[in-house]
Amino acid sequence: MNIIRARDFEDMSMKAADIVSAQVKRKPDSLLGLATGGSVLGLYANLTKDYENGNLDFSGIKTVNLDEYIGLDGVHDQSYRYYMDNNLFNHVNIKKENTHVPNGMSRDPGIECERYTNLIEKLGGIDLQLLGLGLNGHIGFNEPGIVFIKDTHVVELDESTIKANARFFAEEARVPGKAITMGIKNIMNAKKIVLCVSGKQKAGILKTVLFGDVTPLVPGSILQFHPDFTVVADEEALSVI
Ligand code: F6R
Repeated sequence: MNIIRARDFEDMSMKAADIVSAQVKRKPDSLLGLATGGSVLGLYANLTKDYENGNLDFSGIKTVNLDEYIGLDGVHDQSYRYYMDNNLFNHVNIKKENTHVPNGMSRDPGIECERYTNLIEKLGGIDLQLLGLGLNGHIGFNEPGIVFIKDTHVVELDESTIKANARFFAEEARVPGKAITMGIKNIMNAKKIVLCVSGKQKAGILKTVLFGDVTPLVPGSILQFHPDFTVVADEEALSVI
C-alpha cells in the first residue's frame, strides 16, 4: 500500500489526477473504473484541464462506473450517468459509446447486474479503478455486511449513506433507497486502485480501512490485500494516522 499525502482537497485532486493522466498516457486504450461523488470532482476538473491544454487524449479510453441509483435515468441530475457526462465526458474527447454506467432503469436489475459483470470482463478488465470512501467504510456501494459480495449486485443503501448523499438532493426523502454496484471481486480485480479521501470527517474510517481488521463490516478494508493500491488523502483525512 502506498499513501500519498496531500495538503488539502485541491492538492489531493491534482496528485490523483496525475496518476490517472499517467495511466492514460502509458496505455491510451485503458479501461478506467470511475467513481462519482465529492471526493473525485476536483480530479475530473484537472483531467478536463489537462485535455484542454492538449496534454491528454481520451479517444481510445473506455470507462466503467462503479454504481448507479435504481430508479434514476441518465437525465436525472442526481444520476451518476448525468454526473459523469457533466463533470467529465462532455468536456473531453472520449467516445460516449465507450463509457458505461449501470442502467438504473433496467426492468430486471438482476439481469443488468449480470450484464455489467460480464461487460467488465469482455472489455478486458479494469486497468485503474478510482474509489472514494463512504463514512461507513463502503467502496462503490458495497455497504457493511456479513460477507463481501463478489459481483455486481443490487444493494439497499445504508441509512448513513442516504443521510450522507442527501446533500446532493432537494431533500433526504428523494435519495433512492437502492442502487446497483460493482462487487468487491470486480473492484479487487483491477490492476491498480486509487482511493481519494479528503476531510476530517473521514479520518477515523480511513484509519480503520487502512490499518484495522480486514472484514466485510468495513468493506474498504479489503483494499489492504490489493497488490497495487494507492491512497491519495489530504492532511485532515490523515490526521489520526
Ligand atoms: C460513488 C461511490 C461512493 C463514493 C463514496 C464517497 O460512485 O461509489 O463509494 O465514492 O460514497 O462519496 P463522497 O466522495 O461524496 O464523499
